[in-house]
Amino acid sequence: MMTGRAAIDSGILERLRQAATEAAARAYAPYSKFYVGAALLFEDGAVFTGCNVENASYGLTSCAERNALFRAISERGAGQKIRAIVVVNRNGASSAPCGACRQVMSEFVTSDAVVDFPGTAGPETKPFAEIFPNSFALEPQS
Ligand code: THU
Repeated sequence: MMTGRAAIDSGILERLRQAATEAAARAYAPYSKFYVGAALLFEDGAVFTGCNVENASYGLTSCAERNALFRAISERGAGQKIRAIVVVNRNGASSAPCGACRQVMSEFVTSDAVVDFPGTAGPETKPFAEIFPNSFALEPQS
């Protein structure tokens, strides 16, 4: 029996990679010179992109994935969940989303969300639940 939703079409993933690549062209990364772009596909079909923005005070750097998410929520609230997180870089390197971004994304993903990122042999697509099990959630305090 089919359960849940259909997997995300490879053509859609390719378009998201393209959108992420366009965002990566705007990355501000003069310190690491690692240029990242992200594209988030929401349940309603909306796509929001982001790039990394670094700072001379290194720890203030903000990743492409989180910038895309905060941009989406700032523009239209948190009513729609994310179905796909697509990450690219202009460095030809393999790189999965960092742990901090996984934790932040975990509050806004669907249960069947996927992550698509540059692996060692081309793009890899994995369930978000597989790359980030046991996320932290805050129980309401009495
Ligand atoms: N970076 C991202 O934007 N996303 C990731 O998933 C990993 C790392 C950025 C942060 C920093 O500007 C540069 O890549 C090197 O760590």
